[in-house]
Amino acid sequence: MDWGMRNRLSKIIRPETGRTVMLAVDHGYFLGPTTGLEEPGKTVAPLLPYADTLMLTRGVLRACVDPRMNVPVVLRVSGGTSILGNLADEGTTVSMKDSLRLNVAGVALSVFVGSQLEKQTLLALANIVNEAEEFGVPVLAVTAVGKDMVRDSRYLGLACRIAAELGAHVVKTYYCDDFESVVKNCPVPIVIAGGKKIPEREAIELSYNAVSRGAAGVDMGRNIFQSEHPVSMIRTVREVVHNNMKPDKAWDLFNALAREEGKKAHKKDKTAVA
Ligand code: R5P
Repeated sequence: MDWGMRNRLSKIIRPETGRTVMLAVDHGYFLGPTTGLEEPGKTVAPLLPYADTLMLTRGVLRACVDPRMNVPVVLRVSGGTSILGNLADEGTTVSMKDSLRLNVAGVALSVFVGSQLEKQTLLALANIVNEAEEFGVPVLAVTAVGKDMVRDSRYLGLACRIAAELGAHVVKTYYCDDFESVVKNCPVPIVIAGGKKIPEREAIELSYNAVSRGAAGVDMGRNIFQSEHPVSMIRTVREVVHNNMKPDKAWDLFNALAREEGKKAHKKDKTAVA
């Protein structure tokens, strides 16, 4: 592996712990104005100090994120469909040249194993890997997005392994029962998506279960930015991911941070009214 590739990978997965907290805010590329991301710049700004990596689209990056920020970007480079159409019918949306111009640490695209369009999306992954290898850019393959897939270890194991075999450097998937077997059968690091918003306590447990069973971290979106206390949530998830904080302790931490976050927001509101 060349220097550039290793350097970029170390910006995505922190070498100190071998783990990462990726903040995913790319949902709009097929969901449009997702709850919590109506104004992505405002959502993201207070979370950035606690994110190892920011995952988003070219449009939101350019329009809403301060280029002086210091968080490595994993750019979503697939899309072309919406929640109203056939999600699997994606194509590549950003050239490698533009990704490099945006100084990315990595690029991400979805694969839809088991869909009628699996070949199209898997070959798109292989093509992006071919191009990305040329420039030392890691590729994150996103598996199992959509409603049709049974997210069990058999399916997720299949999708992750195929993505890794085609050259993905990191794979994103969902947590499931027997997650260890998904990790064991995938030769590259796995990060988990959080999925739909669930109570904070459950999202903390999900993160803990995933990393303690072999995930290299999370690529989490809605369970952070849709929380009533998003900064507290990402700070807590960081402790779980990087310091193996157990769920009970992490839940106490979250509540303590949330109280502070609540007070600050209240103070800000009062100042705005005065
Ligand atoms: C889906 O295709 C996107 O890549 C999302 O970024 C991903 O699902 C992670 O976000 P969440 O934790 O909200 O599921």
